[in-house]
Amino acid sequence: MAQPRLGAWGMNRLDVARIKKDFPILDRQSGGHRLVFLDSAASSQKPRAVLDAMDHYYVTTHANVHRGVYCIAEEATAAYEAVRGKVARFIGAPSSRGVILTGNATQAINLVAQSYGRHCLGPDQAVLLTEMEHHANLVPWLMLREERGTELRFLPIDDDGRLVLDDLDRLLDGVGLVAVTAMSNVLGTLNPVRVIADAAHAAGAVVLVDGAQSVPHAVTDVAALGCDFLAFSAHKMCGPTGIGALWGREDLLEAMPAFIGGGEMIRDVRLDGWTPNEIPWKFEAGTPPIAEAIGLGAALDYLSELDMGAVRAHEAELTGHALSLLAERHGDALRIFGPTDPADRGGVVSFTYSDIHPHDLAQVLDSVGVCVRAGHHCAKPLMRRLGVNSTARASFYVYNDEADVEALSDGLVAAAEMFGA
Ligand SMILES: Cc1ncc(COP(=O)(O)O)c(C=O)c1O
Repeated sequence: MAQPRLGAWGMNRLDVARIKKDFPILDRQSGGHRLVFLDSAASSQKPRAVLDAMDHYYVTTHANVHRGVYCIAEEATAAYEAVRGKVARFIGAPSSRGVILTGNATQAINLVAQSYGRHCLGPDQAVLLTEMEHHANLVPWLMLREERGTELRFLPIDDDGRLVLDDLDRLLDGVGLVAVTAMSNVLGTLNPVRVIADAAHAAGAVVLVDGAQSVPHAVTDVAALGCDFLAFSAHKMCGPTGIGALWGREDLLEAMPAFIGGGEMIRDVRLDGWTPNEIPWKFEAGTPPIAEAIGLGAALDYLSELDMGAVRAHEAELTGHALSLLAERHGDALRIFGPTDPADRGGVVSFTYSDIHPHDLAQVLDSVGVCVRAGHHCAKPLMRRLGVNSTARASFYVYNDEADVEALSDGLVAAAEMFGA
């Protein structure tokens, strides 16, 4: 079996002090304090290179793509299409034909649910999900169940936040599609996607990987993952909002009907019918987010330059540091969710602190410049499984360092004092 590259640690080290300078927003203050941004799992900050690329495109090149015969329209088309190739290289895809540019990961997953789910799944075939899915990889399948009566099954998690695979073969019996997150946005768990994909394929199912939290943080290789579809968003990986991607196996995409109708996705239209365009354009109706795609391309260049193995190594180290520092300083008052070994998790640390409400924690942290997320993190079934309504969540990226973790810890001390915890 090929070694999964997801989670591979690189030998290079990130120069975080230099990287911080690439992100203009980190120069600003928040409430008179240094901005400590620990919410990249929701949306990352953007380096100057991405902002400049989008600005340059609008200043020098903007025109609609795929239509014009004039110079700047052709340049815009070439720049937009070049991003497809960059995405393919970044995720190890065999060609850019399987790369569909979407609005975000949510749209990418909905495309699979609405097109493959409605038209390629057999009437009696079930869909296997996990208990830790983000609503983006749950609600589209619940919608499919409402529409077609598709049976949904769920891989359970243990109390450490790891998937329990003991019953995998039984659960896969009669399943046509498995949709699983590569990394939980709440627990940080890095899932054994390859193991699941191999078992799914042996059972005749196709595999969709929700890479929204993994693609920004680790080397991604669709062949090593063994997936048939991969979805992710640019805005969590230094790129702009409004753009994401779905990679799909070309034979599957060819067999899938178009999902949204309109301009660009057709080869011919008559008053009595229409003929779809080839992949990937068949799935890209209407004017695409061109500047955003350019921004995604610049983000991929930026991250590739940093080296994704080094990104993973940095985040694993920082997460390990955070787990031990927080446990040491805050003891049992702090409940941290997810696997204890940083090798098994990405840079997401969800926690509750004594009986302080996570929103109160986030507010006290905000008062000292520390941005963390509080809430259900769009994973309500998982919250129920964990026995909580919400958690606070700190998440790390390439521009975070140990000083940021110290600031988080100091902020928690302040919160504990304020609430007498
Ligand atoms: C695991 C996971 N999947 C999917 C999504 C949806 O991403 P987007 O809102 O960019 O579509 C998120 C966003 O937080 C996520 O964490």
